[in-house]
Amino acid sequence: MTARARVGVLISGRGSNLQSLIDACAAGDFPAEIVYVVSNVPDVEGLRRAERARIPSRTIAHGGFASRECFDEAVAGALREFDVAVVCLAGFMRVLSAGFVETWRGRLINIHPSLLPAFKGVNVHRRVLESGVRISGCTAHFVVHELDSGPIIAQAAVPVLPQDNEEVLAERVLSAEHKLYPLALRLLSEDRVRLEGDRAIFDIPTDGESSLFSPPLR
Ligand code: GRF
Repeated sequence: MTARARVGVLISGRGSNLQSLIDACAAGDFPAEIVYVVSNVPDVEGLRRAERARIPSRTIAHGGFASRECFDEAVAGALREFDVAVVCLAGFMRVLSAGFVETWRGRLINIHPSLLPAFKGVNVHRRVLESGVRISGCTAHFVVHELDSGPIIAQAAVPVLPQDNEEVLAERVLSAEHKLYPLALRLLSEDRVRLEGDRAIFDIPTDGESSLFSPPLR
């Protein structure tokens, strides 16, 4: 049996994506295990999720550090302590320094609540609704220094409905995130996707699955 990839998850809040990874890892045949959770914000729901799953966790509050690099070095040290091989950002609201991103290149992934490269940054769902697009979704991607710009591992699309408000759309996208992020972690852990230069390279059989129409064709 090959060893499961040792995963560290970085969070800042609610941690529902962390929970989806915890749940996926609970399956015996999942190729990864979460060995450590770090939050840069104290006392958040995500830390309680880690505790309930008996995963070691720690708060490293960024406010206590003189610079971004010092904070990142503390996080990197903690990840090394737990022999982490793959890092998942899950609602981690801090920009990581170039050094950190370079060290973890190809082993550092993020989930973003839009179909990148559209709608990078924050307040995504508000901007999606303002734009009038009829399809939105989420993206799991490798992290590079430029925000929300790394090579894409996987995406899921959801319809934007006429009656949607930010909350309703966020909820629909979040449900898709909870399926997509475990898939991306699985692909990476099984070496079915890897970062080569600035491209994601896949070893996955493909077929032409059905399209999402929004509004629907019927
Ligand atoms: C998610 O929408 C994720 O895409 C974005 O931040 C949010 C985090 O939610 N990066 P949660 O903390 O995982 O519940």
